[in-house]
Amino acid sequence: MGQLIIAIDGPAASGKSTTAKLVAARLAYTYIDSGAMYRAVALRAIRLGVSETDVEGLEQMAREAMIGLPEHDGDPVLLDGEDVSLEIRGERVTASASVVSTVPGVRRALVKQQRAIGHATDCVMEGRDIGTVVFPDADLKVFLTADLRERARRRLSEMRERGHRPDDSGRSDGELLAETMEDIRARDERDSSRDDSPLLRASDAVALDTTGLSIEQQVEEVVRLAIERGAELPANGKAGQA
Ligand code: CDP
Repeated sequence: MGQLIIAIDGPAASGKSTTAKLVAARLAYTYIDSGAMYRAVALRAIRLGVSETDVEGLEQMAREAMIGLPEHDGDPVLLDGEDVSLEIRGERVTASASVVSTVPGVRRALVKQQRAIGHATDCVMEGRDIGTVVFPDADLKVFLTADLRERARRRLSEMRERGHRPDDSGRSDGELLAETMEDIRARDERDSSRDDSPLLRASDAVALDTTGLSIEQQVEEVVRLAIERGAELPANGKAGQA
């Protein structure tokens, strides 16, 4: 059998990264976070002063960006040789990534790299268009969803864990949750309504609502589906390591 590709798509904060990382660890596959690539390009545009409306500038900038993705959990995301793991998760870059990712030339440049990585190794790739555009023939496609309030809660606790301090702004917990829900809603809308590669469930994707599921349950379910499609658990004792 050739390389196996598992595509995990879904809206913001639906649990894609956590699930994809753990599934990849269980199967000893390469984990690929395509969103980190769009985030890195957005950061590069901000740093170089390329406007969100300068389509040609963005396209060229995406082609020239040197993006290094983590191969193991804990490895950094590199942009032009520099560790930008934390910076790409900030609010400004997050908002900008969803604007920059509407530019077809930016998508073309990144999809080319994503296909090259995916064809070279067994992988779990997460994003918005992996099962529809990047790998329409993926061996397994999963579309994760979760209730908006639950996703906002997850995003806030993730930001706190990463050391971002949304609380320092003096906003109450209720205000922060409402703001985060609005940010996520606006981004989902932009991601779903763009012309090029909108966020969409592929007709042959398995839908999984993670609202009431634990991380273990959602990982278990995806691993089970992967095995059904021909994936094998590694025999070398790596299974289960995160
Ligand atoms: O982690 P979260 O779901 O918040 O976002 P992400 O997966 O890191 O993606 C950040 C942004 O990149 C998204 O809002 C999309 O606009 C864009 N993106 C995309 O267009 N296509 C992908 N395959 C992955 C991300």
